[in-house]
Amino acid sequence: PDAVRIALLGCGTVGSQVVRLLREHADDLAARAGARLELVGIAVRDTDAERDPWVPRELLTADAAALVARADIVVELIGGIDPVRPLVLAALESGATVVTGNKALLAAHGPELHGAAERSGADLYYEAAVAGAVPVVYGLRESLAGDNVDAVLGIVNGTTNFILDEMATRGLSFDDALALAQELGYAEADPTADVDGHDAAAKAAILASLAFHTRVSIDDVPVTGIRQVTAADMAEAREAGYVIKLLAVARRITDNGTRGISVRVHPALLPATHPLAAVRGAFNAVVVEAEAAGRLMFYGQGAGGAPTASAVLGDLVAAASHKVHGGNAPRESTYAELPLVTDAQT
Ligand code: HSE
Repeated sequence: PDAVRIALLGCGTVGSQVVRLLREHADDLAARAGARLELVGIAVRDTDAERDPWVPRELLTADAAALVARADIVVELIGGIDPVRPLVLAALESGATVVTGNKALLAAHGPELHGAAERSGADLYYEAAVAGAVPVVYGLRESLAGDNVDAVLGIVNGTTNFILDEMATRGLSFDDALALAQELGYAEADPTADVDGHDAAAKAAILASLAFHTRVSIDDVPVTGIRQVTAADMAEAREAGYVIKLLAVARRITDNGTRGISVRVHPALLPATHPLAAVRGAFNAVVVEAEAAGRLMFYGQGAGGAPTASAVLGDLVAAASHKVHGGNAPRESTYAELPLVTDAQT
């Protein structure tokens, strides 16, 4: 084909940047994918709302289902579970490729989505769902497909890292730091998902699933957010040579005859010399420990419109290229049955 038809669902902070980059880099993207990436419609809740000037109004529609039905690739950037889940399932069942940044949906309904994709031969890409621009999904799914991962340890929520950092270094109050994170486009529509750790827990579930070739759901992840972290805690930590970070931790457990994995999210004290202690602002970083590779660190902008849009476009080029030249995204092998080891056991 000369062109691949792309439907965009959602035109918020990330979606709008995807539209901008698709237009600005149309020729390069076409050359890389082997066909033009043609945006055929943008589904939004309110077609009359104010938009960035580069968003073509004539592409806006309130009928997401009709738009999905005429796309080769569906880019889902609405987020959340309802009403997105049936749209994404319909797309996958029809054989369309889905590119999504929706960590909540993946972490709650991963097996259903992957199952639908498997049955129809559709592809599902989701680099943007974890750590924004940082290519950690690709890293785990493809680069490390030949290795055995022992642990994944990460700062995967930009909003909370930004808040903790602003509180620690500039003495901002929790509320002021959160307001600033919202202004900068880092926070979720409902920032309690950030602050209470649920956004990080969704990402932890996705990373653990990839790392250990199993399916971990967000419901399996014990989570503590950052609400109870005070300025006094931070000062005390600093004096002792530590920083407080919200960490997502997924580990393979092989101690004492217990075999399984442990996945959790909680604020942690890190020595100021730890590589993750140096992660500032809304940046994200994921440390992966693998048997043969040793320790790797993935680092970069984990939130915000343009960085997350970069991840979406990378997936889009790969997806479009497969539509043109054939082939599929790598299948995720979920052969491993690793029981979740609860806190009490570790
Ligand atoms: N609210 C998320 C964050 C956006 O702050 O990291 C990226 O998933």
